[in-house]
Amino acid sequence: MKEQHLKTPFTTYSSQSELPEDVIRLVEKAKEAISTAYAPYSHFHVGAAVLLANGKIVVGNNQENAAYPSGMCAERVAIWSAASRYPDEIVKKIVITVKSSLKQVNKPVAPCGACRQTLLEYEVKQKEPIEIYFMGETGIVIQSHSLSDLLPFAFDQSYL
Ligand code: THU
Repeated sequence: MKEQHLKTPFTTYSSQSELPEDVIRLVEKAKEAISTAYAPYSHFHVGAAVLLANGKIVVGNNQENAAYPSGMCAERVAIWSAASRYPDEIVKKIVITVKSSLKQVNKPVAPCGACRQTLLEYEVKQKEPIEIYFMGETGIVIQSHSLSDLLPFAFDQSYL
């Protein structure tokens, strides 16, 4: 028996304005996407922007449903849209941002487990890490350098 520990590397930025220029552009696109999110139940509007190796930016936002589990998160809408439109393109970065009509979100909104699993699929497929940046409306931004850092012990194609 041996107790072991995981270390998860990540980078923090003290505010959105400290981000590199290309990421600021993605934040702008993700914020634009927030304006068309459909979140009448949670009032929690999420936007995501994916940067592809060909320079294209593909966005997505959350889409809710009266049958709650039938709704979908912004990250999966964005990555599936990117994968369906540009199936052979490497995904370089994804940015996630939020606006709630109920309160100001002042801490980074981390992707849910199902979104991590979905994003990891494409990282494994392309054999290249995807950088992920997540943030609130204000406050710090967290950058993870790879989906595998966010989802250790993941289930992937190697099992099948
Ligand atoms: N949501 C996302 O779109 N992404 C996340 O990372 C967390 C949660 C959405 C799902 C739902 O529409 C609303 O936020 C509240 O959970």
